[in-house]
Order: sequence, then C-alpha cells, then structure tokens
Amino acid sequence: MLPILKTSLGQLFEADCLKFLSTLKTGTVDLAFADPPFNLGKKYSSKIDDARTTHHYLDWCREWLDEMVRVLKPGGSLFLWNLPKWNLALGSCLTGSMTFRHWIAVDIKYSLPIQNRLYPSHYSLLYFVKGNKPSVFHPDRLPVSCCRHCGGELRDYGGYKDKMNPRGVNLSDVWTDIPPVRHAKYKKRDDNALALKLMDRIIAMASDPESIVLDPFGGSGTTYVTAELNGRRWIGSELDCKPIIRRFDELESDREHLAQIHSNKNVLFTRSSMELRRKSGNPLSPNYRLDTQDLCVCPDPVVKQRDLFALP
Ligand SMILES: C[S@@+](CC[C@H](N)C(=O)[O-])C[C@H]1O[C@@H](n2cnc3c(N)ncnc32)[C@H](O)[C@@H]1O
Repeated sequence: MLPILKTSLGQLFEADCLKFLSTLKTGTVDLAFADPPFNLGKKYSSKIDDARTTHHYLDWCREWLDEMVRVLKPGGSLFLWNLPKWNLALGSCLTGSMTFRHWIAVDIKYSLPIQNRLYPSHYSLLYFVKGNKPSVFHPDRLPVSCCRHCGGELRDYGGYKDKMNPRGVNLSDVWTDIPPVRHAKYKKRDDNALALKLMDRIIAMASDPESIVLDPFGGSGTTYVTAELNGRRWIGSELDCKPIIRRFDELESDREHLAQIHSNKNVLFTRSSMELRRKSGNPLSPNYRLDTQDLCVCPDPVVKQRDLFALP
C-alpha cells in the first residue's frame, strides 16, 4: 500500500481502516486514537454507511478495535472518542484485552436537547492501556479558571494558595475547556473536526517525541497535524483524504493556533487573565508561588524544523 501523503514524520493512506490496519506490524504503535463515525445517519464525503443496525455497527467497531490493540506496544495507550451509548459497549469489550484507565467526560458546548431525555452534555473519551500501566504518562496541568471579565479566580483556594503547583492545577477526568471547532479560521471542513486542543492534550499525555501515533479515521486530519507540529511520528487512514492534504498544504494557521494553546497550559495563570486583572485593578494574591517566567512561557515549543524519523 502506498501513502497518499507523506511528511518526514508521517504517512497517510487513502484506504479502508481495516485494510490499512492489517498492514501494520504487531506491537509497533505507542498511542492509538479513534474518532469513528457515530452511526447517526450523517452524510460523509467518503459515502460510508452511517446508519447500520446496532449489531452491525458494534461488530464493525470491534473488528478495528481488535486491530488497534494488536498493533499497540505493551504500555501503549488507546483513546476512543464516541457517544456515551457506544463507548459503554465498546469499553466493555476492551476490558478483556486492555486495562481501563479513565472515562473522560468532555463537555459539549452547544448540543441540542432531546425530548424525554436528560440534556446530553458530554462526549465520552475512553482511555485504556495495554498491560498494567502506560509507558508514557505526562498529563498537562491547567491554569486556574478565571473570570472572563475581571480575570479573578472563579474558585477560592483559601489557605492553599502557597501549596499550589506553579505549573498549574491537576488535569481531571472532566474536561470543560475544549472549545467546539467553530472559528472559520480554524475550521477545516464542514463537520466532525475535533479541536486541536483536545488532540494536543491527548498526544502530550500519552506520547513522547519519538513515539508513533495512529489514527485510522483521519477526517480533517486533526490528529496528524497535532502529531506533526508536536514532533511525533504519525500514521493513519481515511477514505477521502482531500481535506487532510489541503490542511497540510496550509499548516501555518494550525501552527499559530497550537502555539497559542501551548502558551496557556502548564502555567498557573494565563497572560490574558493577568492582563484582565491589571485592567480591573485586581492584583493577584502574593501567596501564590509563581516562577518568574511562568506566565505563559511555552514549555513545549511547537516544532518548526522536522526531524527525520523512519516509520516502521
Ligand atoms: C468523525 S470523522 C473523524 C474526524 C477527525 N477526528 C477530525 O478531527 O477531523 C470519521 C471519519 O472516518 C472516516 N471513515 C469512515 N469509515 C472509514 C473506514 N472504513 N476506513 C477509513 N476511514 C473511514 C470518514 O470518512 C470520516 O472522515
């Protein structure tokens, strides 16, 4: 199989995911991520059947999940993005071969209410590891949540301010800070594109620069672009690769966007919240421990020069 797109870090194949996965060697991938179609009857440019019976959909998912588990290295991480309804079933079949780590609830900003149901307010991100523990685990730390108007803390840390890590607060399994991809500048196709911030968080948590990241459902290529700009090797498949090829031709806006994302993580206070405080005359308590260069120093610069790696 020949790649339709090749960079010095990654390769994309215009192929069915099962066919593509069957060509990969067992135990070669460090981080596997999947954002499959949700079987909601949507129209995709790849013309896939997105309205299968429950039984067929789950059988199909199990087939590619088995393959993803096979190609993961021991200690490798698997993330599965889907509706809670599907991840409940898929998570239970993964527990035979993998160790469950987390059900991460990712807040959906603008979903629609459904009659006779609770208002659906999160996507499920399942996190499993092959073996007992992950070989790579370095979760981002987040800035303190601050008011959009005055920059003041939304929570009172009381007498604990001096105990707080200057690199930010611990990442939890509820993510409320992932924006929908709405901004025309960052929106790479009509539907389904995941936020760069989401993929950056996953890739930062479960891979190192020498790692290989796999995504069999490329879509608009968010996983590949995030991997590329973070200096990770990557590999993937998609039935309609045109949007991904176009995106790689115009990588600058993603590079800028990622630099902005990086500047707002692993710090206790963002530069913009400090600026809001200054404007509203609300100085920060001196009890916080801040590194002098802590405010928005990019700890993990976006890769400008690609290193040459050989893919397996
Ligand atoms: C939900 S989208 C992925 C979006 C992607 N995560 C992003 O951020 O842009 C799912 C993608 O899977 C692709 N797809 C569906 N069935 C496939 C298959 N059998 N093999 C490869 N790709 C497939 C669809 O064309 C669609 O673009």
